[in-house]
Amino acid sequence: MAEKITLATLKQYKQQQRPITMLTCYDYATAILLEQAGVDSILVGDSLAQVVLGYKTTLPATMDIMVALTAAVRRGAPNVYLIGDMPFLSYQVSPEMAIVNAGRFLADAGCDAVKLEVNTSQLDLVERLATAGIPVMAHLGYRPQSASQSDKVVQTRSVQRACQLVQDGLEMIAAGACSIMLECVTTAAAQALAEKTDLPVISCGSGPHCDGQVLVLHEILSLPGATGPRFSKSYADIGEQIRTAAGKYVEDIRQKRFPDEDHSYHMSEEHQEQFQRWLTEKRVESGEKRVEGRG
Ligand code: KIV
Repeated sequence: MAEKITLATLKQYKQQQRPITMLTCYDYATAILLEQAGVDSILVGDSLAQVVLGYKTTLPATMDIMVALTAAVRRGAPNVYLIGDMPFLSYQVSPEMAIVNAGRFLADAGCDAVKLEVNTSQLDLVERLATAGIPVMAHLGYRPQSASQSDKVVQTRSVQRACQLVQDGLEMIAAGACSIMLECVTTAAAQALAEKTDLPVISCGSGPHCDGQVLVLHEILSLPGATGPRFSKSYADIGEQIRTAAGKYVEDIRQKRFPDEDHSYHMSEEHQEQFQRWLTEKRVESGEKRVEGRG
């Protein structure tokens, strides 16, 4: 049986320079496949608002949806390091609310950690969560929940921003974060931070020198509505496979090839005869005729 992957495992991978593999996932069946494929860690991202629910941004993701789908992913992938993404306004309103919501990801959905999009004005929050025993992945760099306040997608192109990113990351770790995710950060800045800590630093479009990589599943599978950014990569055209399979099904039904004998159930001959007799003797009529009879 596969061993449960923990934070200690991920730290060990980092030490061994074995890249950590992470994907997003939002349902039970796909979670089974990802664990079978050897993925170390799954993030149930608030990107589900876009790729599963069809919204334009991640903001409409709610706690109830996130927790229900995260629990389904855990049922499918019991051994991966599972991270629940705290949705917009589930942690910004008050530390108490953040602890309660983060606790739901751990207690109700079986997560190993929660991810929060944070800046250094939220160091106290990270500390409060860590003190409450909640492992926090700090999401730095481009933060989609604050996209409307951000002038750029690619972060840390300037020296000043790169230094700031490294400092912010180290402050998050000092406040108790157990790992860092860097979205759309320049490779030099991401590498510098990864080299300054023993904790896993995961790249989402932040280059090859981090300790691991994460991408959005729907983007690597080329599913409709999930056109990835330049840093993402398509590994299969599952959209085309689904279209082809559904098209064959539609055609089979229209051509009356489905369902055939192999996909139908029958009574025994004896029961069939009795049934026919009953139909004939009772002269079961259609609803329409009965209405006529009564009139
Ligand atoms: O919600 C999400 O999918 C993310 C990505 C950055 C991986 O946070």
